[in-house]
Amino acid sequence: MKPEILQIAPMQPSVESALGAAYTVHRYWEAPDKPALLAAIGPRVRGVATDGHYGIAPEILAALPKLEIVASYGVGYDAIDTRACKAKGVRVTNTPEVLNDAVAELALGLMIALCRRLPQADAHVRAGRWAAGEGFGLTAELTGRHAGILGLGRIGKEIARRLQAMKMRVSYHGRHAQPAEPYLYYPDLSEMARDVDWLVVIAPGSAATRGLVTRAVLEALGPDGAIVNVARGSLVDEAAMVELLASGGLGGAALDVFADEPRVPEALLGLPNVVLSPHQGSATRKTRAAMGDLVVRNLAAHFAGDPLLTPVV
Ligand code: NAP
Ligand code: 8YV
Repeated sequence: MKPEILQIAPMQPSVESALGAAYTVHRYWEAPDKPALLAAIGPRVRGVATDGHYGIAPEILAALPKLEIVASYGVGYDAIDTRACKAKGVRVTNTPEVLNDAVAELALGLMIALCRRLPQADAHVRAGRWAAGEGFGLTAELTGRHAGILGLGRIGKEIARRLQAMKMRVSYHGRHAQPAEPYLYYPDLSEMARDVDWLVVIAPGSAATRGLVTRAVLEALGPDGAIVNVARGSLVDEAAMVELLASGGLGGAALDVFADEPRVPEALLGLPNVVLSPHQGSATRKTRAAMGDLVVRNLAAHFAGDPLLTPVV
């Protein structure tokens, strides 16, 4: 008999067919009556396949007494209560490393888009304004500017390498200095924000990082500074950020993530000093295939009694 698993959200076809071949899959997001589905199949479910956005809600975890493993499609696991999982003896896996390059590329892309005003430039050409003889004006560049990375981890290091290739100076903030890295360490985030032109946020979402980028940090970044957030919306005081972007207290923002996705604060939509992206840091065909493969292989390892490939707990 195939083990029964609960799939929380849709995944790419290759993952769905691999899961379907190995397990009896219950598709949570499609169930019209979710409590009824949980009551009916909950006692038999041994695995959950989910993603970084949905994680596993407390009511789902509570309804699965035989749960053994949660395999998540994403590196960030802030939507999974890992402590509760551990207490119940439930293993958790994520998809680290394989998405580093894609997320770092998007971070650089957003930075270039913001300072070279690429969305506006594209609109300028499409509207025929260039053809009509209207100049686009001058923009800023990354070369020679100073970037501060909040979270010099797996992805942060890939971003740092790319920023160096753009001939930028790179500094970082985290809880620990990393003496082997060639970048300047700031133990104080506000001090780093004061000194840099760009603040790149790429630390995990967690209780410890919630609101880490305060109004004071954003004010320290200032009217000539810009924030890039490719981590989680929860790290930033979003209301303060919106207010400062609108008033000129903060120069610009390039955002792939938001506090309440997929909702984006209305005020951001009309601001010219902002570039917006729909949480697509890892969303390339190549990277999503590698992430999906890890979800499938972690579940397979678990049910075969082999060591997990990328365990969180
Ligand atoms: P990682 O390797 O664990 O690196 C995280 C870094 O954050 C570490 O260098 C850590 O340094 C720092 N950090 C952790 N807690 C901190 C705190 N309380 N204060 C300051 N710094 C802290 O993680 P990763 O694989 O690079 O991924 C980072 C995050 O990116 C994920 O958790 C996820 O939320 C996000 N992400 C977003 C997308 C997207 O689509 N936009 C895609 C993938 C990942 P210290 O230990 O020195 O503090
Ligand atoms: C995914 C992410 O888009 O890995 C992460 O932490 O944020 C992204 O790669 C997400 O997990 C899917 O919801």
